[in-house]
Amino acid sequence: MKVLITGATGFIGSHMAELLASKDFHVYGLDNLSTYYDVDLKQKNINAITDAGVKFINADLRFPEQYQNLSNDFDFIIHFAAQPGISKDSTFQSYLENNVLATHHLIQFVKHQKQLKHFFNISTSSVYGKYATVSENVAPQPISTYGITKLMTEQMVLSESRQQHFKASSLRLYSVYSLRERPDKLFTKLISCALNDTKFPLYEGSLKHLRSYTYVGDIVKGIYNAIKVYNALDGEIINLGHYEKHSTQEGVLNVEKILKKHIQIQNLPPRSGDQQETQAIIDKAKLLLNYQPKTSFEEGIRKQIEWFKSQYNIK
Ligand SMILES: NC(=O)c1ccc[n+]([C@@H]2O[C@H](COP(=O)([O-])OP(=O)(O)OC[C@H]3O[C@@H](n4cnc5c(N)ncnc54)[C@H](O)[C@@H]3O)[C@@H](O)[C@H]2O)c1
Repeated sequence: MKVLITGATGFIGSHMAELLASKDFHVYGLDNLSTYYDVDLKQKNINAITDAGVKFINADLRFPEQYQNLSNDFDFIIHFAAQPGISKDSTFQSYLENNVLATHHLIQFVKHQKQLKHFFNISTSSVYGKYATVSENVAPQPISTYGITKLMTEQMVLSESRQQHFKASSLRLYSVYSLRERPDKLFTKLISCALNDTKFPLYEGSLKHLRSYTYVGDIVKGIYNAIKVYNALDGEIINLGHYEKHSTQEGVLNVEKILKKHIQIQNLPPRSGDQQETQAIIDKAKLLLNYQPKTSFEEGIRKQIEWFKSQYNIK
């Protein structure tokens, strides 16, 4: 089976690429090495995925001429590439181009695929809005440009399924963390601040925010399960995350406990677009994908700390 993974040098996409390569898929990993964060980290991920047997394609989805000559015999496409996060440094244009425009061009490419079995769109709990504590049939009410453009992307893909142009589904992921987590995300920042004795930027009110933190290995296994039952998924939207929720404060305390260090805080005003609470309702994923996240919150943080230390040769 031949699979194209977009965003394959990123945090989650690189884990997905490695997992499928280990399962005897012929994996092609496409990425434009966006400069949203340190490109050296993506270079490390390229090394990891190519060592695992993945063929890397350096291309930007916004510019179809860069990938239109790729083969037309992919069985599956898994679309991770995006402008993620809610950083104030990311422009509206960047979300519009890398989420909406990029997906528009990818869809045109997908229409020429002769034997495509299924297109998996990777979506996010951010589409739900301030409280992502509901099941898939509740109307989304996003509060960030990220959530709005990811919802549009999702609907663009599902609209192709509704028109029977190709089969597709959308998986809404919840606060993925651990090995290779992006530098702008909570645990990478906490661990880095603790180990480097720098101040952790805390947005006002965010200590009480609740999230369904989900170990990256459990996320890519869930997507792998989805590939196995792709026939039953056309047109579906499925939440994928850990059903337990934890506060930012619990995150801080866990990192402090494991590293036996106190984290200093730099107080910042509230961040626009931040969700108050997420909790993954995964009855549908359990039913359709036999999905059961296994890694506990503390175990995922411990693994991330070990990984972080190994990256920077910290004892
Ligand atoms: N990390 C999370 O907690 C989380 C939660 C929910 C959903 N998601 C979704 O998962 C996906 C991956 O997120 P991530 O955290 O791994 O982010 P990431 O930034 O590490 O990965 C995204 C990758 O896409 C690439 N990319 C961006 N624009 C591109 C373009 N125009 N053409 C080609 N490649 C492009 C980037 O270079 C990057 O390597 C995204 O779609 C995101 O919305 C992530």
